[in-house]
Order: sequence, then C-alpha cells, then structure tokens
Amino acid sequence: MYKTPQEEFWAGSFGDEYTDRNQNEKLLSSNTALFSRIIKKTSGVKSVIEFGPNVGLNLIALMRLIPDVELSAVEINEKACSALRKTGKVQVYCQSILDFKPDRKRDMVFTKGVLIHLSPEVLPAVYEKMYESSARYICVAEYYNPTPVEINYRGHGERLFKRDFAGELLDKYPDLRLVDYGFSYHRDPQFPQDDITWFLLEKV
Ligand SMILES: C[S@@+](CC[C@H](N)C(=O)[O-])C[C@H]1O[C@@H](n2cnc3c(N)ncnc32)[C@H](O)[C@@H]1O
Repeated sequence: MYKTPQEEFWAGSFGDEYTDRNQNEKLLSSNTALFSRIIKKTSGVKSVIEFGPNVGLNLIALMRLIPDVELSAVEINEKACSALRKTGKVQVYCQSILDFKPDRKRDMVFTKGVLIHLSPEVLPAVYEKMYESSARYICVAEYYNPTPVEINYRGHGERLFKRDFAGELLDKYPDLRLVDYGFSYHRDPQFPQDDITWFLLEKV
C-alpha cells in the first residue's frame, strides 16, 4: 500500500503506540514556548499546514498563539487522524505526505520531528510538496546534523536519519532566505523539547 517501509512503520502498530503515548499537557506548554519564538519572527500568518502532526500538539499550541488561524494537517496514522478530527479545528488529510497533492497554499508549512523519519530518497519530493504548499514561510524543526547520518531509533534500524534539512531546502530553492533559527534543549528547566533545531525560511 505504501512506497516505503518507513510509512508502514508509522501507519502501523508502532505509530498507534506512539499516538497513545503522545498526549501530554507539558508537551503543549513546551510547544507553545517554541512556536512563540518562531511566530514572533513572522508576520501575517493566518493559515498553517503541518506535515506529520500526530495528535496535533503543535497545532493546538498555534491555536493559542494565533486565535483565528486556519489549520491543516497531513498525517499517515489513522488513530492520530481521529484525534486531529476531534479538535474540530483542523482540516485533516489522512494520508502519507508522499501521496499528498498540494491543493492550495498556506502562509506557513512546517514539520517537527517528521523529516527525520522519512526514507532519505523521498526527501526531494517532500521538499517540493512543502515548497508548493507554502505561500510564504517554511519551518523545519528537526534533528540537525551537518552531514547525513542514520541512528538507531528505539531499537529499529533505518527509521531515524539526521541531516541539514533546511540547508538542502535553501540549496534547492534560491528564492528562499533564512529568517532565523534556534535550538530547544531537552534539559531546558521550563520548556524542554527533544533537542530540536528549528529553521524558519521565507520565500522572497
Ligand atoms: C515523531 S512524530 C512527530 C509528531 C509531531 N510533529 C510533534 O512534533 O509532536 C512523527 C509523526 O509523523 C507522522 N508521519 C511519519 N511519516 C509520515 C508520512 N509519510 N506521511 C504523513 N505522516 C507521517 C507519524 O505518523 C507521526 O505522527
């Protein structure tokens, strides 16, 4: 049904169990702190699409920060999609990013902890979908490494890859500029994140 084993992994029981674990008020506070830093660097964001939101803890944080924001999500895991639908505020595309056809542009498109889980050979096509989905901003919040590396993920091989995703987008699309970037540390005393490096890019 899917093109890559990584998609099967997230659509199946591993993704279901991740979804069951991923319901946490503390994460919501950390996400609100993280996105307040990112949104502060933007202007006029009224619509956002997230690729791979799981149950929507980033999108809920964005609702708090931009009350009238229009939200959309492309999520492969059915259990996560039903949680997203329950918010009543998210247009849900319950499918793989690889099958998603950008229909209209949103002011911002982003991923957080998702590009790292895709098969590296599909990244050029995913960058294209992100670029095509964005009217202005693209944000990637992922694990950074200057060169591509694979690391073991909870005992599984070929399920986690770190690289310079934002740098690759900047190389591929010359009309993108780097607006800002930052790091969120897992030992942050108030708002920990999973060692996420975020990059905000803008079409100019
Ligand atoms: C590690 S979680 C990150 C969730 C969320 N972005 C966050 O920051 O909490 C990865 C999410 O991406 C989804 N995902 C993975 N591969 C996908 C694909 N090919 N298409 C759509 N969603 C995908 C998974 O189902 C999961 O919900």
